[in-house]
Amino acid sequence: MTVNPVIDIAYLVAAVLFIFGLKGMTHPRTAVRGNKLGAAGMTLAVIIALCALAAQGAGFGLILLGAVIGSVIGAALAIKIEMTAMPQLVALFNGFGGLASVFVAGGALLDPQNNRWDALLASGVSGLIGAVTFTGSVVAFGKLQELKAFRKPLRLPAQQPINGALALASLLMCVMLSQGTLSLYWPIVLIASALGVLLVSPIGGADMPVVIALLNSYSGLAAAATGFVINNSVLIISGSLVGASGIILTKLMCKAMNRSLTNVLFGVMDGGGGKGPDADEVYATVRSTSADDVAMLLESAQRVVFVPGYGMAVAQAQHAVRDLGKMLEDRDIEVEYAIHPVAGRMPGHMNVLLAEADIDYEKLKEMDAINPTMETVSVAIVIGANDVVNPVAETDPGSPIYGMPIIQVNKAQTVVVIKRSLSPGFAQIPNPLFAAENTLMLFGDGQQAVLDIVTALKENA
Ligand code: TAP
Repeated sequence: MTVNPVIDIAYLVAAVLFIFGLKGMTHPRTAVRGNKLGAAGMTLAVIIALCALAAQGAGFGLILLGAVIGSVIGAALAIKIEMTAMPQLVALFNGFGGLASVFVAGGALLDPQNNRWDALLASGVSGLIGAVTFTGSVVAFGKLQELKAFRKPLRLPAQQPINGALALASLLMCVMLSQGTLSLYWPIVLIASALGVLLVSPIGGADMPVVIALLNSYSGLAAAATGFVINNSVLIISGSLVGASGIILTKLMCKAMNRSLTNVLFGVMDGGGGKGPDADEVYATVRSTSADDVAMLLESAQRVVFVPGYGMAVAQAQHAVRDLGKMLEDRDIEVEYAIHPVAGRMPGHMNVLLAEADIDYEKLKEMDAINPTMETVSVAIVIGANDVVNPVAETDPGSPIYGMPIIQVNKAQTVVVIKRSLSPGFAQIPNPLFAAENTLMLFGDGQQAVLDIVTALKENA
């Protein structure tokens, strides 16, 4: 609890640092500085919160123990995790944020000082949203990790009415809690936990990015509610910032996938399990090529566009792609990089990888900017992308990705697809692009294939 103006002012400074941090993160050029400002704000907030506790005479033994255990687990996870498994980790972090809110709000109920109707209502809301976030995030983690138990979307016969009833019941219980029925807190948490599972279980495949963004927003809202419970202004502000930015991201992701939020949450997308046409049929006319042939093709190109996807991240091919791009530019070939908003496994995944390889931001083109010019592209090199270039998204209303805008590489003069096999992407459906008349498949690991093209180009020089 804030007890003096110095603490309040320090919290305000932390909040301002968060806001400038977020502002910095709106552009790749200022993102690193933004990240540092946010981290400085968080460090300040933690130090001040500890000072405030010390001023109230709290002991630090348990706090230190918790901090050490949490730091060790967090650091181990962050070091060990593959870059490509980042969304799962983010899902877990969101979930633990929600769980922390559940415990803090539950703990605050033990303090008679908090027995005001507004603090009690905030406790109930915190427990409700926190529990939905926790169990929803655990299910999202299981789906992204492709754990067997979570692979199949779970749909109950009257799922929506059941969800509606659970949501209504827990909200009513929050109101009763605010009137002094403290014993309702843990039942609210229990019902909300079931609601979290039921809300996320039926959502599958291509909709997961939206769900992660939404859960991220929920974790912020739970934290903001907890801020009201313990009267901590910096928690209210930072929770609101996370809540609002999560909602904005959710909206952007929905737009990128051409889906409404209602449709994602209550729709019937069969992602991850969608059948689509039979793979053998679709791939009857696939033509494979070699690095030498691709090098020859590139030598006569005027405009080349790279379309990176998840496989580029797996292969860590971004540096090799940059080298190939530079070689082509040295030959006066126009080179650009087309970025699909949900390529990879997290928002901005491709931007981060290409920035890491020092590729000029100006050369990164958004889907909407590149698509109208696709017919003038001599060679589109699709590297480790699959769903985001799958034409069935535009042509097959029965497809689980129908309606998702794609990078229309099929309109380029020639398409070279680099991947290891004809295996499907995240949505688990075949891709007719691989068998199109203007497509050549270069089978192999993304990095090795690009290095082979570079070598072939050097040999031809
Ligand atoms: P995907 O459709 O997942 O396809 C990736 C392809 O990369 C696979 O077909 C795989 O084929 C290939 N690949 C894997 N390792 C490779 C390697 N070492 N070298 C070369 N290729 C390799 O990827 P995408 O086109 O980027 O689409 C993203 C999908 O993920 C969308 O469905 C999207 O909705 C979903 N998603 C996105 C996010 C965010 S926020 N971006 C989050 C969760 C889910 P091979 O095995 O044959 O090599």
